[in-house]
Amino acid sequence: MTGSFRKMAGGGGCVAVLAACLVALATGAEIHRNERGKTMIPGNSVINLGQQTNTWRPLAKTTANLTDVRSIKSTFEFRTFDPEGVVFYGDNHSGDEWFILALHGGVPEIQIYKADILVSVTGGPRLDDGQWHLMEVSTEGKFVLLEVDGSKALTVGLHSQKVKEVITGQLRLALGGILIDSSRLLVPLRPEMDGCVRAGSWLDLTEPWEMVEGGAELRPCLEAIQRGSYFPGSGFAVFNVSALRIEAPKGGVDIVLGGDFAQMNGTLLSLRGGDHALALSLEINNHSQTMLLTYGKTEITTSTITDKLRLIFRERFFAVSYDGDYIIDSATDQTVEQSIWREGQLAIGGLLGEEEDAVGSNFLVGCLEKVVVQGKQLDMDLSDKDVSISSHSCPVR
Ligand SMILES: *[C@@H]1O[C@H](CO)[C@@H](O)[C@H](O)[C@H]1NC(C)=O
Ligand SMILES: *[C@@H]1O[C@H](CO)[C@@H](O)[C@H](O)[C@H]1NC(C)=O
Ligand SMILES: *[C@@H]1O[C@H](CO)[C@@H](O)[C@H](O)[C@H]1NC(C)=O
Ligand SMILES: *[C@@H]1O[C@H](CO)[C@@H](O)[C@H](O)[C@H]1NC(C)=O
Ligand SMILES: *[C@@H]1O[C@H](CO)[C@@H](O)[C@H](O)[C@H]1NC(C)=O
Repeated sequence: MTGSFRKMAGGGGCVAVLAACLVALATGAEIHRNERGKTMIPGNSVINLGQQTNTWRPLAKTTANLTDVRSIKSTFEFRTFDPEGVVFYGDNHSGDEWFILALHGGVPEIQIYKADILVSVTGGPRLDDGQWHLMEVSTEGKFVLLEVDGSKALTVGLHSQKVKEVITGQLRLALGGILIDSSRLLVPLRPEMDGCVRAGSWLDLTEPWEMVEGGAELRPCLEAIQRGSYFPGSGFAVFNVSALRIEAPKGGVDIVLGGDFAQMNGTLLSLRGGDHALALSLEINNHSQTMLLTYGKTEITTSTITDKLRLIFRERFFAVSYDGDYIIDSATDQTVEQSIWREGQLAIGGLLGEEEDAVGSNFLVGCLEKVVVQGKQLDMDLSDKDVSISSHSCPVR
């Protein structure tokens, strides 16, 4: 690591996590703008793949002439806690032939389209462990190989009579997204990848990469991360409850929240029913080290001395518990409750208003390690979320 952090254009995300920025990994490499005002970075830079505004659009891309390709091997280091998303894409300019390396269920997945063949292969070690892994993608004759940390992870063999070897034309590479329509994939994917790459060597090309977003929202890759969803205080994540497919609401709904609540500030969670009226909110006040739960006309204040809260919704009953103790326990209006699970909305990190947008600005600052609804961890990538939120990683204090 070099001494100084280079602030790439804008750096809005950096301001929000200022302390963490000081330990951000830096490359010390040349960052400049090209004639179209796009930020250009070397291929071996540290690149955070997690800040797209358009989910399929890559973060960085580069183009090369096939005549300049001297190597059929790309190597890079990769780190993530995110089990699903696009890592790396390559094609022959027109998109006639393409390659995707993604993570799916935490393990590598390759999809290739060549001539009349569309193929996918998934397997190898889980990579969503927050450790840096050395990745190598290469071509050997009719085979595409993926090695992880020096061991063979996946091999894809493909052969078609229709393949004609072309040695002119252009090749495009992209990180964190793809350059073809997502409907062309054999296996559907959620593209967002909250992960980082560094030390990339891409087909031995020396051309710099162009940041697709113009570099406006570059987020640093922090040296130390932990599992969780990080809310820097500038937005929230909204889920349509119907999309969560909460089974049998009559049997009740449980929501478990985990994290170091004493280190957070702002709205943890809010719920509203189909009528758009706020049904419940839970807010943390870092100054007084209290949590305020508002439910209907009831307001309950409790201390933040816990790292796990369970919200228990039953037909005529609502309770909050931590460590087996009940904080509150009250009778509720069952009609409001039923409409929440059918057509309501659940927000993490902010307050839902009567309008579509959040009211106020008491957005959560902090790391939510766990949000479990009906026994299933909520993936922030499935919500309408502010781009500032890291779905799968938090800075370590
Ligand atoms: C590719 O070749 C074309 C024409 O030969 C040239 O204009 C272009 O600059 C080359 N591109 C790269 C990235 O080398
Ligand atoms: C696409 O690029 C690869 C080099 O990575 C080359 O071997 C292949 O022949 C190209 N195919 C077409 C159709 O241009
Ligand atoms: C909450 O308070 C603690 C202790 O005063 C402090 O270290 C922490 O940075 C605060 N967090 C937020 C999000 O305000
Ligand atoms: C917590 O959030 C409130 C509301 O945004 C803000 O007024 C207060 O300064 C924050 N407190 C801390 C300790 O960050
Ligand atoms: C929630 O529903 C609204 C209205 O149907 C839709 O516009 C929005 O995209 C949905 N959000 C998510 C995260 O599914």
